[in-house]
Amino acid sequence: MTDPSRPDCEQLVVVLVGLPARGKSYVARKIVRYLSWLGWTTRTFNVGAYRRARLGAHHREAFFSPDNTEGLRQRQAIADAALNDLIAWMQAGGAVGIYDATNTTKMRRDRIRAELAKAGLQPLFIETICEDPTLVATNIRQNKLNSPDYAGVSDDEAVADFRKRIAHYERAYEPLGAGESSYVKFIDVGRRIEIDGLRGYLPGKLLFFLMNTHLERRPVWLTRHGESAYNQIGRIGGDTTLTAQGEAYAKAVATFMQCRLAGTKQPAVFTSTLRRTRQTAAHLPLIPVAWRLLDEIDAGVCDGLTYAEIGERYPDEFAARQADKLHYRYPCGESYVDVIQRLEPVLLEIERERSPVLVVAHQAVIRALYGYFKGLQPDEVPHLEVPLHTIIELRAGPYGLDEERFPLLEQ
Ligand code: F6P
Repeated sequence: MTDPSRPDCEQLVVVLVGLPARGKSYVARKIVRYLSWLGWTTRTFNVGAYRRARLGAHHREAFFSPDNTEGLRQRQAIADAALNDLIAWMQAGGAVGIYDATNTTKMRRDRIRAELAKAGLQPLFIETICEDPTLVATNIRQNKLNSPDYAGVSDDEAVADFRKRIAHYERAYEPLGAGESSYVKFIDVGRRIEIDGLRGYLPGKLLFFLMNTHLERRPVWLTRHGESAYNQIGRIGGDTTLTAQGEAYAKAVATFMQCRLAGTKQPAVFTSTLRRTRQTAAHLPLIPVAWRLLDEIDAGVCDGLTYAEIGERYPDEFAARQADKLHYRYPCGESYVDVIQRLEPVLLEIERERSPVLVVAHQAVIRALYGYFKGLQPDEVPHLEVPLHTIIELRAGPYGLDEERFPLLEQ
């Protein structure tokens, strides 16, 4: 859902370029997750998925040879179908369309540019290049072996076939060059970045995001603070201290982290500036960074009230929040959309950080961050289940994000 508060008159088509197994779909997924979270309607059009849906998943390397005329014709038809769907989707109001295909020849890219121009759309090309052969090998092992293209095929056979497929593309490959701006060359997952002719708000934003991307596998732990005096009596907001239960949770967090961190790098610990999160992190053998941006949603005139009191004193406000919890903004306070937008710098910092990260924050804030990592739509965020006294562990695994929840105290 596009957020009505966004200045999203700007539209963008991201056209990926690169040999197979160079991380194009990884980049596409990251962009979708990031921009969707911020409220832009973003969607990927993956030509490989179109091929499998329309022609079946049985194609072996010979199909991809540049000498295979019938293969070329079929692949072009599938690529055109995906591009037409992308254009139609953009014309129906989509903000950011991602065209995920190899697009490794200049002829193919000229054709894409011409089709987009007819629809008044401008492409931003993002070329993913791997100069490090181990990255390619890892990508083939981790992603391609599980592709439906190789269902029922032994790993060795699949790798050999896929490498031949890559070799076919290599023969015809023309990297992005002069006269093809705007483009970003994203080399070895951001180890080096080259840009040409980049302008505009969204391209700049994407570039900044990609510059903070890396492949380091490290856990991210998210937790609310321990129970506060206000939690105990059902009041929202405020800046109260922990109850005895909350204090027990703070100690349990320190013990948990000690066990979990054995043998790993020191984590970065982020709290809000409110007492309940700082107290929850106080027993850790580390100095946390307290971010104002991690403070709880500002409930404005409702701060310090119970939900029942809000219903009595401000029945219209209560009903409006129930009707649209994502966009509802407390009088003199914030909405969930406001919270998501203010969290963006924290999120970029978490993405940039190569060490494990522990975030000790609040219900609305943890919901928003969790929504990003899980790739959820913004309107799901305000309704997520984030209980007290539970650490959520998120780890990038080979098949997506692995999640484990650790309730540290008896409920
Ligand atoms: O009740 C605890 C709390 O952190 C409040 O301070 C905050 O207003 C609330 O949760 C956010 O949750 P919801 O958006 O469901 O009201």
